[in-house]
Amino acid sequence: MLRLSGITKRFVGVQALRDVQLHLRAGEVHALMGQNGAGKSTLIKVLTGVHPADDGEIRLAGEPIRPRSPAEAQGVGIATVYQEVNLCGNLSVAENIFAGRLPRRAGFIDRARMVREARELLRRLHLDIDVGQPLGRYPVAVQQMVAIARALGMHSRVLILDEPSSSLDADEVQHLFAVLRGLRAQGLAILFVTHFLDEVYALADRITVLRNGEFVGEYTPPELPAPALVAAMIGRELAAEGARQPAAASGGGAPLLETRGLARRGALQPADLQIRPGEVLGLAGLLGSGRTELARLLFGMDRPDRGELRVDGRVVSFEHPAQAVALGLAMCPEERKIDGIVADLSVRENIVLALQARQGLWKVLSRRRQQEIAERYIRALDIRTADADTPIGQLSGGNQQKAILARWLATEPRLLILDEPTRGIDVAAKQEIMNEIVRLARAGLAVLFVSSELDEIARLADRIAVLRERRLVGELPGGSDEATIGRLITGAVT
Ligand SMILES: Nc1ncnc2c1ncn2[C@@H]1O[C@H](COP(=O)(O)OP(=O)(O)OP(=O)(O)O)[C@@H](O)[C@H]1O
Ligand SMILES: [Mg+2]
Repeated sequence: MLRLSGITKRFVGVQALRDVQLHLRAGEVHALMGQNGAGKSTLIKVLTGVHPADDGEIRLAGEPIRPRSPAEAQGVGIATVYQEVNLCGNLSVAENIFAGRLPRRAGFIDRARMVREARELLRRLHLDIDVGQPLGRYPVAVQQMVAIARALGMHSRVLILDEPSSSLDADEVQHLFAVLRGLRAQGLAILFVTHFLDEVYALADRITVLRNGEFVGEYTPPELPAPALVAAMIGRELAAEGARQPAAASGGGAPLLETRGLARRGALQPADLQIRPGEVLGLAGLLGSGRTELARLLFGMDRPDRGELRVDGRVVSFEHPAQAVALGLAMCPEERKIDGIVADLSVRENIVLALQARQGLWKVLSRRRQQEIAERYIRALDIRTADADTPIGQLSGGNQQKAILARWLATEPRLLILDEPTRGIDVAAKQEIMNEIVRLARAGLAVLFVSSELDEIARLADRIAVLRERRLVGELPGGSDEATIGRLITGAVT
């Protein structure tokens, strides 16, 4: 269906793609794999007319094509759900599905038909929602389905999804996969990018691996078991993860942060929680179980309507996150696209942002100090960037995320709240970031670590608090096996 060959793309100072090939067949799901910055999104953007290629050829069903915009790519049947959701939150679901090709009757927009057809398309994806509501009111999972419905409505032959699962929970991923399997059976050619290896083996028929902007190979999943896939992506074997190091301070020491009956209507039932210096407290629970809500209460982003929050034993009442930051708290938020990056500021400016804000605007950090801090974290987290002055918007998605983490580490907090810090980060980088977090914890940092990935929580946390339906339902020791954590999360009776 689609044949890319010799694709080459250079940005100022970066060879993003060099002589890359990709063969996508009708009726297959093809996984495009590679580390953060390997060139996956760039290849997709070349293919869909966002960036012109410097060299190379694209053939669709044998015919050479050269789309100059996503609309042109769409016109020939290539639909894309980009890494950044790019629909309009303030338009209705139906309008988003039909944007640019609204059905008309006698010159007027035929709303009734638009609504009917939008509903019909979504029904094919097993989604029954009010298509007259603004899209922004719906969760990301629904927005993605709407993007796919839009692609289907345009009779696409090729569907491309860049990290579709990185903001979905387990059930939503299952739904998405069921939809993709259905589309595959109808003969669509599907290309998708993910950093979750198990998804590759659950869904993909073939795998193309990129490394440093170059084509490494094309494989079938049985040919390339997970360790070999990782080796192909990073160019070496990934060292086995070290054993869990128990917290030095566990059991002893006064809590740095403590809650007593902390609650907020509709968000969290009264919760008692303690976090001590030097320990990693894991917070597990399904999406919507109240994990993010709890984190927001601790960091002063929302106000509790009952209970007590104590820092260093003293009752505090945050009206604003700045007050939490002043006491040494930091929080790396879940939705980096919304809360996170300032795309046209440099990597350096993005990294020092929170530190500068805490210091106050009068005490400007010297350029040299900024540079030192930025370089330290670029090294520590292996942020792939030409230099510290590159606009952060030019970094790959995973590397932007590392920069946000660096921003909060740079404030040298006493308590760090991490909400899903490794989504969108490749396997090797994930391991490095985990090691860095453990190292900081062993040096006295208190960490609240929110994650949906049970293996990550099990390995990293000293204690694991479990939320279910907005209630703290129990605590498990670190190192508990995934099945045990899973049972407590879902409330399954053993
Ligand atoms: N608009 C741009 N200007 C300059 N450089 C860019 C631009 N877009 C991407 N790059 C660079 O091209 C390289 C490949 O980036 P790309 O976004 O394709 O990576 P990726 O494989 O999608 O990574 P991730 O898994 O983190 O999303 C990176 O070095 C990135 O910094
Ligand atoms: Mg990308």
